[in-house]
Parts: sequence; structure tokens; C-alpha cells
Amino acid sequence: MKKLIPSLLSADFWCLSEQLNVLLKHGLDTLHIDVMDGVFVPNISLGTPIVASLSQRSHFILDVHLMIEDPEKMVQAFKEAGAHIITVHWEASPHIHRTLQRIKEIGAMAGVSINPGTPVDVLRPVLHLVDLVLVMSVNPGFGGQEFLPEVLPKIEKLKEWQSSYQYVIEVDGGMNPQTAALAIQSGAQWIVAGSSVFRGNVEQNVVDLLKVLK
Ligand code: DX5
Ligand code: ZN
Repeated sequence: MKKLIPSLLSADFWCLSEQLNVLLKHGLDTLHIDVMDGVFVPNISLGTPIVASLSQRSHFILDVHLMIEDPEKMVQAFKEAGAHIITVHWEASPHIHRTLQRIKEIGAMAGVSINPGTPVDVLRPVLHLVDLVLVMSVNPGFGGQEFLPEVLPKIEKLKEWQSSYQYVIEVDGGMNPQTAALAIQSGAQWIVAGSSVFRGNVEQNVVDLLKVLK
């Protein structure tokens, strides 16, 4: 099933609930929450308090993208805060296999992500463990960057392998109606979009993006 997943990083936190109500009105049921530690990526963003608040006050599925070093130390805290999906970067953990096992053990859906500079083949040994593969289509750390089309062949490969596994293919970074169409054509199912949802008229943006996902 195709899904549009707004990334909260670009939301207007002054009027967050208003913006979230627009998403609900259009049937969007999942939110992407970017967690950055200033070490794995050169930025600091959101953490467990916002996950806890959204989990207590809404029914959104919370898709937590950990852009942090040593993610294994934090997965339990995010699960307790209410995360449904926890995605860790292949590059951030020398023990990615154990980290993914741990996420499953604590009862969350497990995702693994790769940066634009990382070949997709490195994921082969862990694909049987994951519910989601997140292909970064920008270098992680900031919203509003331009889509890198060179990641499309990675999505195609994941699509090819998909029949032997259980994962969903998610793409994150620089998604707008044009680039989302390319990602979907290559085999992406879940489209994460930050600035193209929250900048300007949120309702119109959602309508435009949803047309591509139909
Ligand atoms: C980037 C984050 C993305 C970000 C996407 O490091 O992982 O989720 O919010 O923002 P846009 O859609 O503006 O590229
Ligand atoms: Zn993200």
C-alpha cells in the first residue's frame, strides 16, 4: 500500500495541532519523526517528549527515524515513548543485526536506513529482520534539500528482492510531486515528505502529493 508520510521536522510547531488536523482530514495516519543527535548528522532535532505527546494525544502511527550514533542505546526509550516503527541507520551501528533484533524483541517494527553514499547490497544480511527499508534520497540532517536521483537504482534493487522478504520500501528526502512520482515508479511505497507538505498551504500540498500516490 502506498502512503504519504509527513515529516514533522518541517512542521510549524506554533500551530502543530492545526496542521495535524489537516493531515487527518485527508486520511493520513502516519507521522515521520526525525531524531538527530548532532553527531551522526550535523543537526539536533526532536526526541522522546514529542513522541510521547503524540502517542498520548493522537492515534497516528509514529515512524521514528533515528539519525543518531549508538542507536541501540535509545530504542527502548523511543518504544516506551510510543514509537511504532523504529528505523536505525546501517552506518550508525557496527552491530546493526543485534540492534534490529532488539527493536523486534521490544515489540516495535524495525527499519533500516542507508545514506545516499551507501550501497544497498550491504543490507542483504539483515533484510530478513526488517519491516521497512528507508532509502535516504538526501544526505540526512536537514529538511528542504534537493532530491538525489542517483538513489533510484537502489530502490529498484530493493523492489527486485522484495518478493523474498516482508519489508516496505520508504524514501525520504527532497520528495515533492515530481520526485515522488520517480520514486514510486522505481518501486517505493512510502513517501516521506517534510517541506513539500508543511511549507505554504498544507492542505493544497497534501492534495497535490496524494494525486501522485493514487
Ligand atoms: C532529513 C530527514 C527527513 C526530512 C525530509 O535528514 O530525514 O525526514 O525531514 O525533509 P524534506 O522532505 O524537506 O527533504
Ligand atoms: Zn527522516
